[in-house]
Amino acid sequence: MGLGHFVPSRVVTNAELATILTTSDEWIQQRTGIKERRWVDGDVGASELAEPAARQAIKNAGLEVSDIDLIVFATLSPDVFFPGSSCLLQDRLGLNGCAALDIRTQCTGFLYALSIADAHIRSGLAEHVLVVGAEVHSSGLDMSDRGRDVTVIFGDGAGAAVVGPSDGTSRILGHKLHADGKHAEILKIEAPASRRNPRITHEMISQGLHYPHMQGRAVFKLAVSLVPKVIIELLEEHDLKIDEVDLLVPHQANQRINEMVARRLEIDPERVYNNIERFGNTTAASIPIALHEAVLRQKVKPGGLVCLAALGAGMTWGATLIRW
Ligand code: COA
Repeated sequence: MGLGHFVPSRVVTNAELATILTTSDEWIQQRTGIKERRWVDGDVGASELAEPAARQAIKNAGLEVSDIDLIVFATLSPDVFFPGSSCLLQDRLGLNGCAALDIRTQCTGFLYALSIADAHIRSGLAEHVLVVGAEVHSSGLDMSDRGRDVTVIFGDGAGAAVVGPSDGTSRILGHKLHADGKHAEILKIEAPASRRNPRITHEMISQGLHYPHMQGRAVFKLAVSLVPKVIIELLEEHDLKIDEVDLLVPHQANQRINEMVARRLEIDPERVYNNIERFGNTTAASIPIALHEAVLRQKVKPGGLVCLAALGAGMTWGATLIRW
C-alpha cells in the first residue's frame, strides 16, 4: 500500500575507507560495485533509522499511524540484545498496544517479514501491517585490516512497507522461502552469544568475535546458484516465465552477484534494479530501499510484475512475486 526509506546523511566513500584500512576505491568497485555507503553518526539504533521510513510508508499508504495493527521488524543489528526493535519502533511511533515482532533472517529478512504480513492479512489476524527492514552496521564493523573484506561492503539504512488487504489486481502473488543451517558458519557474528558462558570476554573481543566474519567466496557461490533457482521455482509455481517479470529487485550484496544472477536468468539487465553503488549492503533494508527508489523512478507501473529475491546468513534465501 505504501513504501518509505531513510538513510543517514553521512556519505562514506571508498576513498575515506582507504584512509582507515588497507584498501582502495579500485578494489572495492571492481569486486563489489560499491562506490559509497551511508553510516550513522554517534549513537543511533536500528529503530531510530526505521522511524522516518515507517512514517513515510504509512503516509504513502494513505493511512494514519493508528491504522497499523502489527509491526514486523527485520534486522540483524537490533538496538539492543532484547527487547526487539519492533517494540522500540512501536513506542517511537506511539502505537503502544499493537502486536510487534522481530525477524532474524538477515539479508532475507524483508522477504520473510513480508510473508508473515501477508499470512496475517490473509488469515484475518491483522489488517494493516508495517513491515520494516533496518540496519546499523557501522557501529559493529572491524575497522582494522582483519575485517576489511566485510567492513567495506556494509552500509546503514532503513526501508518500510505497509501491507494491507488488496482491493483489486495489485497483490502479493506468493513467496518461496528457504533456509539451510549447515551453512551457518560461513557468515556470522559469534559474540555475545548464549552458547558462550560468559557471553563475551575480553579475549573474544581481542579475537574480534563481536564483528561479522564471512567466507566471501562461499557466500558468493551459493548466491549465484540459489537465487536464480528460487526465482524460477516461484515463477513456475505461478505459471509465469522470466520474460514476464517487469522488474527484478535483488538484495544488494554485490553488483557482480546480481549481474551473474541476471545472466543465469537471461533477464535484460534493464529490468534489474541495483543501487549498491550508493548504499553498499544494507542487509534487511536493501530490498525495501531499492524497491522504493524503483517506484519513485517509475521503473514499475500498475499491473507490472515485480520479483524480489535475496540470500543471506543462515543461510536463508527466497523470492516474492508482486502484481503491482
Ligand atoms: N581491500 C583490498 N583487498 C582486500 C579487501 C579489501 N577491502 N578485502 C579482502 N582483500 C584481499 C584479501 O586479503 C585477498 O588478498 P590475498 O589474495 O593477498 O590473500 C584478496 O583481496 C582476495 O580476497 P577474497 O576474499 O578471495 O576476495 P573475493 O574476490 O572473494 O572478494 C568479496 C571478496 C567479499 C567482495 C566477495 O567474496 C563477495 O562479495 N562475496 C559475497 C559477499 C556477500 O554477498 N555477502 C553478503 C551476503 S548477504
